[in-house]
Amino acid sequence: MRTDPFIRHFRESSPYIHRFRGQTFVINFGGDAIADGSLPSIAQDIALLNSLGINVVLVHGAGPQIDATLARAGLQSERVDGKRVTTAAIMEHLREAVGGARLQVEAVLSEGRLDSPMAHAGLQVVSGNFITAQPLGILHGTDYQHTGEVRRVAVEAIHRHLHSDEVVLLSPVGVSPTGTLFNIRAEDVAVATAIALRAAKLVFYADTSGVTGRDGRLIRQITLSEMPGMLSSQHLPEALQEHLQSAEKACLGGVDRVHIIPRHVDGALLLELFTRDGLGTMVSRDTFENLRPAHREDIPGIMALIRPLEEEGTLVRRPRERLEREIGHFAVMERDGKIIACVALYPYPDVGMAEMACLAVDPQYRREGRGERLLDYCLDKARALRLRQVFVLSTKSTHWFLERGFQRGEVNDLPVPRLELYNYQRRSAIFLRTP
Ligand SMILES: CC(C)(COP(=O)(O)OP(=O)(O)OC[C@H]1O[C@@H](n2cnc3c(N)ncnc32)[C@H](O)[C@@H]1OP(=O)(O)O)[C@@H](O)C(=O)NCCC(=O)NCCS
Repeated sequence: MRTDPFIRHFRESSPYIHRFRGQTFVINFGGDAIADGSLPSIAQDIALLNSLGINVVLVHGAGPQIDATLARAGLQSERVDGKRVTTAAIMEHLREAVGGARLQVEAVLSEGRLDSPMAHAGLQVVSGNFITAQPLGILHGTDYQHTGEVRRVAVEAIHRHLHSDEVVLLSPVGVSPTGTLFNIRAEDVAVATAIALRAAKLVFYADTSGVTGRDGRLIRQITLSEMPGMLSSQHLPEALQEHLQSAEKACLGGVDRVHIIPRHVDGALLLELFTRDGLGTMVSRDTFENLRPAHREDIPGIMALIRPLEEEGTLVRRPRERLEREIGHFAVMERDGKIIACVALYPYPDVGMAEMACLAVDPQYRREGRGERLLDYCLDKARALRLRQVFVLSTKSTHWFLERGFQRGEVNDLPVPRLELYNYQRRSAIFLRTP
């Protein structure tokens, strides 16, 4: 039976819808999104998140609006180490520019035209004095004057609004307890807010499609331990470097995942959050034990993990000699000296395919995303080998694979050498996907 692509995608998104309900996401976009017309598309995605019961805090920037206002007034602002020096005269104009940008965002979020996808969304937006600021002060001899940093986030007040299904909109400014207004980088407001609210996700809209490696290929996932190498490689534009630094800070502060997504792709937020592959770059904490290629010393640990699954018929029996022969195909996760998860990838390069097999997670450690991490590892490996399909044979976890982008296949889809080994008695179902 052929499945309609819409149905397939809708089904693929359902586990995420279920998982995200009640979570808090902080989303940052720069003032350029307001200036270049990408805001209405972003607003539609935000309205959808809100209607799915996700708590949304938006942080807008106003860089181009501030620059334009200053240019009209014949003023120039100095930047030192990427930060604007905000004099009292600049602050006067900045207030006007930021206020204008905020009103524009509110207007777009409030749009409920009947012919717009946001019709009936009834999005309620609140903004206010949620950010307490303090001066950045004098750094390396530069007095930043009215440029500030976040001192406190009004967590309880924000939560109250989120619980009432309102979207909280924050601007790149904050007020000190003495009533002085400070200019704060929107990205810093977003990081501080995400940490203070213990947000599940922080999202940055970027000018580019995401973070790329030196070879120009998109990097879909970066963990904190990979960050120093990423930041020192110098090939990324400044804005992306800044997003990565902010992502690192947010993850160190306890935010689980930070997503960097392209501003110019319609529906980028939905594609990133509700499809298995996403489309941008995700930065995450190293929540998992080291995932590494297996070696011979791991064989007893792998056997202890997979024997019960072999006995109940979930996995095919692999005698020790076979494991010894095939250990080079295995990867494992180890925790306190115990193997708690494993997977194997057998490439068939002649036909551009690979089999993912022996996927197992210790029952004590399931449902925390390890299975998905192992799958991602195999998909990355298959991509690196330039293979076009990964297949898996499963008797029990069929839905696990269907929910992760696999499609049902036929015995004849298997590469010939594997077809010859197919065990017709086990009647395993075959699943395939592109890596
Ligand atoms: C399948 C398996 C590897 C998943 O490991 P995991 O670390 O729990 O995976 P994740 O945390 O990434 O995913 C867990 C999610 O998958 C769901 N899930 C687990 N087994 C499932 C199954 N058989 N069918 C559908 N969904 C399943 C869980 O309910 C959970 O969903 P939730 O977060 O909405 O509650 C693990 O259950 C396992 O080792 N099973 C036995 C071995 C096996 O069947 N291997 C596959 C054959 S090669």
